[in-house]
Amino acid sequence: NSPDRASACPFHNTAGGAIAATPTGCPVSRRAAEFDPFEDGYQQDPPEYVRWAREQEPVFYSPKLGYWVVTRYEDIKAIFRDNLTFSPSIALEKITPTGPEANEVLASYGYAMNRTLVNEDEPAHMPRRRALMDPFTPEALMHHEPMVRHLAREYVDRFIDDGKADLVDQMLWEVPLTVALHFLGVPEEDMDTLRKYSIAHTVNTWGRPKPEEQVEVAHAVGKFWQFAGKVLDKMRQDPDGPGWMQYGIRKQKELPDVVTDSYLHSMMMAGIVAAHETTANATANAMKLLLQHPQAWRDICEDPSLIPNAVEECLRHNGSVAAWRRLATRDVTVGGIDIPAGSKLLIVMSSANHDEHQFADADLFDIRRENASDQLTFGYGSHQCMGKNLARMEMQIFLEEFTRRLPHMRLAEQRFTYVPNTSFRGPEHVFVEWDPALNPERVDPSALQPRAAVRIGEPSAHAISRPVVVTSATYAGGDIIRVKLASPDGRPLPRWTPGSHIDVECGNTGISRQYSLCGDPDDAAAFEIAVLREHQSRGGSEWVHNNVKTGALLRVRGPRNHFRLDESAKKLVFIAGGIGITPISAMARNAKARGIDYEVHFSGRTRASMALLDELTALHGDRMRVYVSDEGTRNDFRALQVVEGTQVYACGPARMLEALQHASMGWPDDALKVEHFESTIGTLDPDREHAFEVELKDSGLVVTVPADQTLLAALRKANVDVQSDCEEGLCGSCEVRVLAGEIDHRDVVLTKGER
Ligand code: HEM
Repeated sequence: NSPDRASACPFHNTAGGAIAATPTGCPVSRRAAEFDPFEDGYQQDPPEYVRWAREQEPVFYSPKLGYWVVTRYEDIKAIFRDNLTFSPSIALEKITPTGPEANEVLASYGYAMNRTLVNEDEPAHMPRRRALMDPFTPEALMHHEPMVRHLAREYVDRFIDDGKADLVDQMLWEVPLTVALHFLGVPEEDMDTLRKYSIAHTVNTWGRPKPEEQVEVAHAVGKFWQFAGKVLDKMRQDPDGPGWMQYGIRKQKELPDVVTDSYLHSMMMAGIVAAHETTANATANAMKLLLQHPQAWRDICEDPSLIPNAVEECLRHNGSVAAWRRLATRDVTVGGIDIPAGSKLLIVMSSANHDEHQFADADLFDIRRENASDQLTFGYGSHQCMGKNLARMEMQIFLEEFTRRLPHMRLAEQRFTYVPNTSFRGPEHVFVEWDPALNPERVDPSALQPRAAVRIGEPSAHAISRPVVVTSATYAGGDIIRVKLASPDGRPLPRWTPGSHIDVECGNTGISRQYSLCGDPDDAAAFEIAVLREHQSRGGSEWVHNNVKTGALLRVRGPRNHFRLDESAKKLVFIAGGIGITPISAMARNAKARGIDYEVHFSGRTRASMALLDELTALHGDRMRVYVSDEGTRNDFRALQVVEGTQVYACGPARMLEALQHASMGWPDDALKVEHFESTIGTLDPDREHAFEVELKDSGLVVTVPADQTLLAALRKANVDVQSDCEEGLCGSCEVRVLAGEIDHRDVVLTKGER
């Protein structure tokens, strides 16, 4: 209670509210004092339960729990990133200490749960993680796909003619358990008993059992421990089996100090829970969420390529690991709050996943959300879930099976219940119903065939497409067609910013092309593009000109913006050549609306070939300069006045952009921003490339990038998630911070200064 501490405390002097104190002597606000994660409020909806904290008191002390609670994305990611300051050693500790009677019961079974991976500190953790990683790589996981598909199909067969089911009891609990046992190499055992053990382990670790329940739980946990020991002994007699645990036993021969006996026994038990309950709950949460959002459900039924991103959005919006734990190893400040060494932290990832600073419109469930895979449900950094891609695979396969065979399924009336605990979260039952007479496979046997490939790894933005209908297609000048698109059901289209483009899929040709949006960003009813028929067309513009008619249905991806406007610039100079006017027109409209000083320079061959010319001239008046080669006028870039604070945005033919690059030599660094639609800069010629190593600071891995691979591909192979989109060096989605080393830039995104 020193006066110094009190004065540093943001809640000191808070009028009213304070009714308890933190271990540092600060008063605790009323809401922090009331926080109780074993209450139904938290169980039903953790991010909603701590919304007040996320918004007003992002790091607080909970006297009921004895933990500091952290609720914002940035703080939680920073904690995951630093596993020396924030030790994971308490991750599997009992959150509610048990009484002497329960402790005796546990001791009678020789219970000695210790460090596995998830609760192991450095320097022991990384060597063990590295030694045991191979069975989780994408190539290794691919072999499990047929088994998961087979199980999913068999379980749905069992109830598909019933017209109703409890998805949890009849499938979602047992299938992930069976997959987990296969993966670990454990013979299939009595599933009901293992389910009982597993729940006991969850309650023992993250729950608040009453004293009389503690003894019962202790018996189940003790039996689970002995079961794990027996299975391990059996495996040791036949260590050549295919499972991850047998792999560990073999590794132990090579690295006995890394893969210890205590590790193997503890992991044998914790692994069943880690691999099984997490995934069962995640799928139950996902099915509940999807069926509560019928449009999203219909969308994935119609277009299974949306499933990988829908899985990711379900993990974000309603993940199965709601919170995790860390121990502060030194005095540290989190989100501006001083936390003393020895403090325990509850980091609420489900809250981080609803943080508006990271996810726009964070409460909205949007299966097309571009950054859904930024979710923290799998943790992050050196301890990030090793099994994430197995879990993603399972969830994709389950959703694919349900959407194909039971698209007419709906939620039955019910109240969802949860096993009260801080961390593992999923409804105990999900009751659904449907009319079996409408089962698609009764009339169409092809409904039994899988429609979508599994994606191993984080989802690709490439796959997220949406249907649109052409509301008008008119010729504007000889070879330019202007197309307006709307959503077929009249729902608003996603919002976009000037400089954005969409990818138009050209029917079934496999070709897709990027076109800048040239309409009004505030008009959520329509996307507008203008497409020039290229005489040396690679097929895209030709297809658009021949096929895009009013009423036609198309699929588009995006909008995405690789060409963002700096609205803080003092002056904006826009330079467009030919059809390059499309992004520029949206930018200039925005500059005008915001009252930024700007000018537009538009060049073309003939006036007739210059799209949007009349309306742009009418809109921009004196600010518009037009140069027409046929009329003998040309833009002289050397005459442009570009001073500090001026930004130049340019889009047009390669020759024009080259001339601009040249002219920009004398301009301030970073003044010129250019829109590119293609790049060959990232193309690899293995004869001329060389291999190199990268060290990943957040996860402690060192990855070798061979001469015939991009860094992105090498990271994926090592099971590291990296956001990416174009994979050509155009879009900047995969941009990462460089801490040290020489960089050979292979992108057209960064300006000289940014490099
Ligand atoms: C670690 C979540 C499925 C194996 C973790 C962590 C979380 C998590 C939150 C701790 C991360 C950290 O401290 O940064 C999940 C979720 C799953 C899932 C939400 C399903 C949706 C699986 C599966 C396996 C698995 C199927 C397969 C065996 C592991 C392992 C670790 C881990 C071995 C420890 C990694 C380490 O500490 O280095 N998981 N998990 N998980 N998970 Fe998962």
